[in-house]
Amino acid sequence: MKVPDIKVTPPGPKAREIVERDRTFVATTTKSAPIVVKKAHGSVVEDVDGNLLVDFSSGISVVNVGHTHPKVVEAISKQAADFTHFAGTDFYYDVQARLAERLGKIVPGKGPKKVFFGNSGAEANEAAIKVAKAHTKRQMFLAFLGAFHGRTMGVLSLTASKAKQRQGFFPMMPGAVHVPYAYCYRCPYQLTYPSCDLYCANIIEDVYMKTVAPPEDVAGIFVEPVQGEGGYVVPPPGWMDRIAKIAKDNDILLIDDEVQSGLGRTGKMWAIEHSKAVPDILTIAKSLGSGIPIGAAVFPAELDFREKGRHSNTFGGNPVACAASIATLDAIEEEGLVARSAKLGEHLAKRLDEMQARYEFIGDRRGLGLMQATEFVTDKATKKADPKIRDRIEEDAYKHGLILLPCGESSIRYIPALNIPRDVLDAGLDVLEQCFRRAAA
Ligand SMILES: Cc1ncc(COP(=O)(O)O)c(C=O)c1O
Repeated sequence: MKVPDIKVTPPGPKAREIVERDRTFVATTTKSAPIVVKKAHGSVVEDVDGNLLVDFSSGISVVNVGHTHPKVVEAISKQAADFTHFAGTDFYYDVQARLAERLGKIVPGKGPKKVFFGNSGAEANEAAIKVAKAHTKRQMFLAFLGAFHGRTMGVLSLTASKAKQRQGFFPMMPGAVHVPYAYCYRCPYQLTYPSCDLYCANIIEDVYMKTVAPPEDVAGIFVEPVQGEGGYVVPPPGWMDRIAKIAKDNDILLIDDEVQSGLGRTGKMWAIEHSKAVPDILTIAKSLGSGIPIGAAVFPAELDFREKGRHSNTFGGNPVACAASIATLDAIEEEGLVARSAKLGEHLAKRLDEMQARYEFIGDRRGLGLMQATEFVTDKATKKADPKIRDRIEEDAYKHGLILLPCGESSIRYIPALNIPRDVLDAGLDVLEQCFRRAAA
């Protein structure tokens, strides 16, 4: 099979018709390209006009094991034939308990753990807020500029990656205080690592806790070990450990949002494992169910709610989603996809670095494992963000058979499935390089 294979430049006639109907009847969200899928297997997407595209988006880091992984499809079909719902918050079934037990074992931290199941990343983080408030009896949270923790009204107060996500939606949950993230390419303090001695972490205790965020009132620090929506920002060595220490020293819970970075994406099972930090609560969603909606907040058993009815929902721990999640974890383990992400990530980073050296408009390349990004600038010296060229490249890419997603102000993220065949990865990168060449011309 030749990939990509473009027969009619996307969006073709069938795609245009569906896009038009969608625009008329579906509420406005974040749609970034008129790609209309008919089928998707592994890392190849077939659109409704018969084009084959290489997928570097994985449905926003959801199909880490590739589209329609046979094991996942089999688990979904088998579970759906038995029962599709039995209100796992009010009654019992084995597959939910088994998934919780498994997650408790693979999430960092010693001792028995408990899992609250929801249906999305936002819901996993909402649960983390409630667990933290209920346990600590404190009301405030620290989060980071550039963070993305979801869009429901609780977690929206923690999200701070784009003003338009918040504009017009005040008031939100009070008590969220944002601190600049460790974005070394654009250090908000104009310092340089390592001579900065992690000033951006130290300032939490030295300034924030002495002024706007008294530690006695802070329940948790929400952190993405690699910022996702904010631009695939990787903090420097030691930063995550410093944040964890500040949390521990002040009896504040460290809440690790692994919704995008989890399940092997960064070349470790959890992105926080690139440091020595151990989170108190870890949240998961996206790739856990390989596309069947599921979210989970995992925490030590002693943080569990003390009585029934404090938090619950209808669909959390849905049996089909749990079966898909167990099959996903099996595939990740049996196929060694965490190690593969690390190894293939090196190859991806190397090719992106070569391109960065060739093109003036690629200011930065950063990432871990198969969670990589390039940031586009007008020129390397001024580092002025250039979202226009980013958008042009993204459009040119899908027209030539490569599916990309933006992030940050002017970056593109490269998040293929962890089991993408190397030749398919290279075919996608060849398309990307041609796009860069055309953009430069
Ligand atoms: C790090 C992170 N947390 C939370 C969320 C919210 O997840 P969802 O869109 O499933 O609500 C996202 C979504 O992109 C995310 O990247």
